[in-house]
Amino acid sequence: MNVETLEDLFGLQLQHAYYAERAHVELLSEMADAAPTDDLREVLADHRAETDAQIDRLEDVFAALGRHPRTSRTRSIDGLIESWHEHRSGSGGDPAVPSALEIALTGERLEIRAYESLLTLAGRLAYADDVVEPLETTLAEERAAVEALEEVETAESILKTLAIEEG
Ligand SMILES: [Fe+2]
Repeated sequence: MNVETLEDLFGLQLQHAYYAERAHVELLSEMADAAPTDDLREVLADHRAETDAQIDRLEDVFAALGRHPRTSRTRSIDGLIESWHEHRSGSGGDPAVPSALEIALTGERLEIRAYESLLTLAGRLAYADDVVEPLETTLAEERAAVEALEEVETAESILKTLAIEEG
């Protein structure tokens, strides 16, 4: 699509967010199934369930703007999917290949940035609550997901440190 106005930019970013969430449904399911610990599995599975509602909310936003829901690919999400495939195909021991937890954190942080940007644009465009509120609800969920993943990360790094000290 041609991006000439702020409305166009908002529409494109909405399609990017829709692409990201739809990719995350699959990604989070696969990552939860393969999670090395129960804690990580639980966070990923919980967020997988939230992601379904986030997709519905984006569809509501498309509808509020009189648009059909459409996805538009982004390189950052495609890169994330590629990292996961590399990880899954057994390069998990390679330090250059990120862990499932790192991939999940990157994905959620990308989503936070996408929703923050959408909300900034929505403010500039003076869009009504039927556009703004669903985006705010989802942004709050994405932030909570990052916090939950960071807690798992902290717990894991403490366990790793203890294991090293115990030799
Ligand atoms: Fe998310």
